[in-house]
Amino acid sequence: MNDSQSLERFRRRGKALSSALAKEMNRVGAFHAAETFVIDVEASNRCHATCDFCPRDRTPHQGFMSQDTFGQVLNRAMEFRDIVQEMQAGRLDFSFCGLGEGALNPLLPGFMRMATDAGFRPCLCTNGDLLTERRSQELLDAGLCDIFINVGALNEEYDRVYGLSFERTVRNIERFMELAQDRCHTWIVLVDYRMDAEHTARVRAFWEARGVRRFYPSPMLNRTGAIEHEVLNFHDHAMEASARALFDGNVPGCYAPIQCIVIGYDGNFYLCNSDWQKEEAAGSVFEVSVTEAMRRRLSRARDRNCSICQRCNHDPLNQVSRMLAEGAEPDLVRASVDVLQQRERSADAFLAALARRGYLADPAGLASP
Ligand SMILES: C[S@@+](CC[C@H](N)C(=O)[O-])C[C@H]1O[C@@H](n2cnc3c(N)ncnc32)[C@H](O)[C@@H]1O
Ligand code: SF4
Ligand code: SF4
Repeated sequence: MNDSQSLERFRRRGKALSSALAKEMNRVGAFHAAETFVIDVEASNRCHATCDFCPRDRTPHQGFMSQDTFGQVLNRAMEFRDIVQEMQAGRLDFSFCGLGEGALNPLLPGFMRMATDAGFRPCLCTNGDLLTERRSQELLDAGLCDIFINVGALNEEYDRVYGLSFERTVRNIERFMELAQDRCHTWIVLVDYRMDAEHTARVRAFWEARGVRRFYPSPMLNRTGAIEHEVLNFHDHAMEASARALFDGNVPGCYAPIQCIVIGYDGNFYLCNSDWQKEEAAGSVFEVSVTEAMRRRLSRARDRNCSICQRCNHDPLNQVSRMLAEGAEPDLVRASVDVLQQRERSADAFLAALARRGYLADPAGLASP
């Protein structure tokens, strides 16, 4: 990258960070283009916790990823990493997350070892309940580099909201950090399920006092309408027409399908991690490449009739409608609209570059689902 490109990138970053999108940057991101792609693997979509804010019980089918499926996931990930490197398009991260508790799958440490041996630096999202000494050691020995532990509440409230034991989770996390030392970064995910900044600040202070230095703020998501909340209800939203006008009628699609490549336990590529009801599969890792799945998923996210995007708080039209309803400053709204439009252009440019290099099965059908 030359000096003027770096300067331009710096300027755009500043703009994105000062837009109203910044508060959601840990999910769909706030930048004009992906600098990091993520392969997000669902080792399990079963879960033994009962977090109030998580619609895990709405998934139509549940299971664990098999060894065969994971082998093919890894092949697809390596294939895509080569493409990203060849195109100098950024970095590819490897995450074990998805929609359930991956640590329930007994094959997880083996998957982690395979990902590490393939040259990835894997991370894991977990509720922390299963981090016994033995399981922690296995995961660390298998090359776990970053762990994101979802603990957005304290004491009895945690027991009630998560359906797990706070005391046990705290013990597990403290032991994990001791075993990990500097082999793995420990992050506490601050899920803002109460939509109350003071509450997340108290949770953060609790963990800071125990030596945690990394926090991952996670704003409340409506999971495409699976979670009902008056602020996150986009059905017939009062500000939708005004938001549409700001896009001059040309509403961009969501960027999640480009940035985060979600692969379900069953080996299907899904639209995104908000697709709780597994409505939007884009083919299986045994049939299609990451790039082809990306093309299919992006065209679904751009289809204004895609019912799951219509209901989701990450959809650009819904994001801007919400900003208007919350009375955001016009400059912030304008900056956000700019970023969302830039992302649409950068997604188009990425797909066109893939097509030119022959990485799309159906380049002529760029606009079709
Ligand atoms: C679905 S969980 C799966 C991995 C693991 N079971 C866990 O809890 O980390 C992944 C992340 O989604 C977050 N999450 C779940 N429902 C959410 C919601 N409605 N809004 C914001 N974050 C949510 C959790 O806090 C967790 O960090
Ligand atoms: S957020 Fe994670 S731990 Fe909580 S119910 Fe959902 S999948 Fe389980
Ligand atoms: S459902 Fe649609 S709008 Fe929501 S995160 Fe997924 S792709 Fe984006």
